[in-house]
Amino acid sequence: MLQTTLGSLELDNPVLSASGTFGSGWEGRQFSDLGHVGALVSKTVTVLPRPGNPAPRIWETPSGMLNSIGLENKGVDYFVRETLPKMRELAASGRKDGRNGPRIVINIGGESIDDFVTLAERFCREGVHALEVNLSCPNVQEGKLLFSTDPRLTEQAVRAVKKVATVPVFAKLSPNVTDVVAIAKGAEQGGADGLTAINTLIGMAIDWRKGKTILGRGIGGLSGPAIKPVALRMVYQLAAAVRLPIVGVGGVRSADDVLEFVCAGASAVQVGTAMFTDPALMVRIVDEIAGKLAAAGTTIRELRGAAHRASAPAAGCAR
Ligand code: FUM
Repeated sequence: MLQTTLGSLELDNPVLSASGTFGSGWEGRQFSDLGHVGALVSKTVTVLPRPGNPAPRIWETPSGMLNSIGLENKGVDYFVRETLPKMRELAASGRKDGRNGPRIVINIGGESIDDFVTLAERFCREGVHALEVNLSCPNVQEGKLLFSTDPRLTEQAVRAVKKVATVPVFAKLSPNVTDVVAIAKGAEQGGADGLTAINTLIGMAIDWRKGKTILGRGIGGLSGPAIKPVALRMVYQLAAAVRLPIVGVGGVRSADDVLEFVCAGASAVQVGTAMFTDPALMVRIVDEIAGKLAAAGTTIRELRGAAHRASAPAAGCAR
């Protein structure tokens, strides 16, 4: 009832962690049995270590939070040596009773196409299950969002990764564009196996008494419940316009939220910001969606895209 696929990637269920909100999952294992989630998505890994942005990097907002981490990480060599074995251990813990266990998805970040290619080659050699290409971090390169605001660059980056990748490749899209479909079509042209939608919305917090911005770098990415309607709209729009499987992400806090994204056309859904306050949430959601689907007499596959079949297409969302 809960199985879903993302291209050739089979998942036990549609619930995944969102990159950057749950580390590699290792620290989260004390709160719930992560063997039950569909996939664990790593924080973005870059070729070289990155110190990240100046503090403060996190700021709570009404119904969400701003982050400006700046892709802090210790680089691919460290990740492969120290972190990936832990993700493999978590994945193995779920491979029983006919289940696949959590799939390992590595989110890769780069300042150039060469960076993406280097990381894709490395992680495919390491036998991970899929790659999520982070084309859309708003907290680097002065927020220029080089790849994810240009369909041609999106296509080029995805094509280059696909050329070397032996596992499914998902392109993580930015909501900070006028026409997300144009960018998604670039990813589709480049051969992406799926889309992850959406990354954070660029925002800002200000302390008027001090007369300055709060985050160390001024701007940050807004996530959490505040962005769910935007994410749902984009997933709906993308599902109507491209043939690729979509991983929905943005403000998910409950099993109902997951099922709303599926109804909009998502094949799987990531849980992110809500895990900062409730690190056991993903696993609870997996249990709850089973009950909700059973009560409604449906499955993930049947529910996927139901909103397109039931309602009149909204402006700009026509199939
Ligand atoms: O700043 C960060 O590390 C955020 C990354 C992202 O939103 O992709």
